[in-house]
Amino acid sequence: MKRIGMLTSGGDCQSLNATMRGVGKALFNHYGDDVEIIGFIDGYKGLMHDDCRLLEPQDFSGILDEGGTILGTSRQPFKMMRVVENGFDKVAAMKHTYKKHKLDCLVVLGGNGSQKTSNLLREEGLNVIGLPKTIDNDLWGSDVTFGFWSAINIATDAIDCIHTTAASHGRTFIIEVMGHKVGDLTLHAGIAGGADIILIPEIPYDINAVAKAIKKREAQGKNFTIIAMAEGALSKEDASMKKKELRKKREDLPASFELGEQIRELTGQEVRITVPGHTQRGGRPCPYDRVLSTRLGSAAAQMIIKEKYGVLMGLHNNEIVPVPLEDVAGKLKTVDPKSEIIQQIKDIGISFGDE
Ligand code: F6P
Repeated sequence: MKRIGMLTSGGDCQSLNATMRGVGKALFNHYGDDVEIIGFIDGYKGLMHDDCRLLEPQDFSGILDEGGTILGTSRQPFKMMRVVENGFDKVAAMKHTYKKHKLDCLVVLGGNGSQKTSNLLREEGLNVIGLPKTIDNDLWGSDVTFGFWSAINIATDAIDCIHTTAASHGRTFIIEVMGHKVGDLTLHAGIAGGADIILIPEIPYDINAVAKAIKKREAQGKNFTIIAMAEGALSKEDASMKKKELRKKREDLPASFELGEQIRELTGQEVRITVPGHTQRGGRPCPYDRVLSTRLGSAAAQMIIKEKYGVLMGLHNNEIVPVPLEDVAGKLKTVDPKSEIIQQIKDIGISFGDE
């Protein structure tokens, strides 16, 4: 009898269920009645406190296009590295649950922080397989994470809707897209939505360059401007500030609202700000994600069958390959300002606010 644990950790996204379905279906298809899959509730919390339920084959049916996660999730537990909290040793508790259920492997669907924790469990001797979740696409080890393209679709829809009202009123709109540290989602939604200015954390902007791009459009007879701005986008001044100071400043004044005010002052434009927020993580996964998730889940099951653990299943050049978790843990994948995609988009006249 194989005994596999599974959990979803960190901020949710579309396609978590589609990924678990891929794992579950492939395992039941291979092992029949000789496998038990135990789902831990609300991420690592469930593993720590042994809160779980047995997942039957029917649990994996009808969930391909269901948003959210049938297991629930919570933020991964080692922010601030508080591994022992009020005398409670989180790692020891997780190991205890793993051993109590006699698990052969734990499958972790999660992003950066969660895979750091899965690597920590691997170092503690547990068999772990990671699957790359996040709308931010900032996980090192996979070209694309599931959730990313579904979120792009939603953010693009938001920009499309704003386009028509911006044009009717001749206004400048800032659409604040999710992504605190990495701007890949903003970049892709901005391109797909035809934004005129794209602002991402990796390319600090100069407010005068942003104003210049708006005025250039005005001079061309275009009375509205669409700005796709990552929630973590930085001005050049912000980039030179100490992290703590900037965090304090942002508690009172989100970057998009500060930018809106500055644009009003410098251009006289009427400015509105739209924040699609968590809608970007909700609802049904797009077809691309359903395909990616099914492949990732199925490939993870094959690793379990081959008893090859300690890896994250990632997409590389359209193939699903195992990447050692130790290579993934703690590494952020960011947008390279010198990448081909940035240059191509600059070449069609879209401003990144840097020149
Ligand atoms: O990491 C995914 C993400 O949606 C980020 O894009 C965003 O900055 C953050 O999570 C929001 O976190 P929370 O759901 O805790 O507000």
